[in-house]
Amino acid sequence: MTALLRRYRTRGRVERAHSIAELRAMALRRLPRLAAEYLESGAEDELSLAANRAAFDGMEFMPRMGGGKSEVPATSGRLAHQALPYVIAPTGLNGLQWREADLALARGAAGAGVVFTQSTVSNTDVGEIARTPGLAHWFQLYVFSDMQLVLALMARAYEAGVRTLVVTVDANTVGNREWDTRLYARPGVPTPAARIDALLHPRWFASVYLPGLPSFPNLTEALGGRRDLIAASHWLRDNIAPHVTWVQLEQIRAAWTGDLLIKGIAHLADAREAIAIGAQGVVLGNHGGRQLDGAVSGLSLLRQVRDDLGAGPTILVEGGVRRGNDILKARLLGADAVMGGRATLYGVAAGGEAGVARALTILRTEYDRSVRLLGSGELAPKRGNKGRDAV
Ligand SMILES: Cc1cc2nc3c(=O)[nH]c(=O)nc-3n(C[C@H](O)[C@H](O)[C@H](O)COP(=O)(O)O)c2cc1C
Repeated sequence: MTALLRRYRTRGRVERAHSIAELRAMALRRLPRLAAEYLESGAEDELSLAANRAAFDGMEFMPRMGGGKSEVPATSGRLAHQALPYVIAPTGLNGLQWREADLALARGAAGAGVVFTQSTVSNTDVGEIARTPGLAHWFQLYVFSDMQLVLALMARAYEAGVRTLVVTVDANTVGNREWDTRLYARPGVPTPAARIDALLHPRWFASVYLPGLPSFPNLTEALGGRRDLIAASHWLRDNIAPHVTWVQLEQIRAAWTGDLLIKGIAHLADAREAIAIGAQGVVLGNHGGRQLDGAVSGLSLLRQVRDDLGAGPTILVEGGVRRGNDILKARLLGADAVMGGRATLYGVAAGGEAGVARALTILRTEYDRSVRLLGSGELAPKRGNKGRDAV
């Protein structure tokens, strides 16, 4: 029998990509390793990166056609108005993937009717993103040692019109992403091989590198006007709070009049504590496998946390979402929505705003189709081979 020759399309228009995996293939063709490893890599042995996917793959659908009607709960909570229960996760340094990638992500999100969460270390001013027509705009906050700076950032986001603040608590120590680090001779200085590789990606080099590497406009005052990416990265490392405490989170809660979500929750006790201090919800997960390697996946905690917290609080889950099926699985386990980072980053890296729009269209089409195919069915942990054969 002839082997099937299956290859993703890696060039051409993003509109022709059929899946997030195909957009990824396009992105990885366009990006030099310096940008690609920053996007892709997980911490150390990438156990948590793999665990995120394994958690989704470890659940299987049992479709039921009888009633003909889906039992998938209608989108819920604060995201009830969204057709696709998806939130674009905060990702820093998007400008390394595509010039003005934050704007492209925001426009793509607005076009698809999903939330865009802007990172503290994004490369576009929060006020400029806020001017995107029709955008549902959340802001992600890192906690710095200087609480005045934290409050100033919150005020800046609020003034821009943001009403949902997402405080990230799992990344105050930078994870050990070795595949990324290997590309540098010392911090901020790429190896000669990595530089040559960047030159061999002329479209990226001309559009991202030559106009000047991105800066962090939301931190301009704190950075004392420094625009240089390396100096800014050192400043960030030195000024982020060594760890986040509940006392700091209570201060943030008291000062923020909008909704508050705590991101990077990986333990039921912390989910409870977040709600106890007055947060509206939590984002369960392990930072896309980029922080503590071996940390549990958000999906595997989801049912327990939803059962414990009840229907009221918003529960989002992040890490590993690549298909509409994944979104459906998270919904069936009790999430209001998922947060996805790399899926739309592949889109933006492959083709800017059009790539983001394509990624969200793919996810929406897959989700809608799978909801119909599931019928009134349900979700269960995957059975062993024996069980699978019996189905
Ligand atoms: C390149 C990259 C940069 C990220 N930067 C941030 C950030 O600035 N703030 C934050 O809270 N999370 C950040 N994250 C984590 C994402 O918000 C999200 O939790 C993760 O990407 C979800 O996993 P997924 O990429 O498999 O969808 C980043 C993730 C990636 C891939």
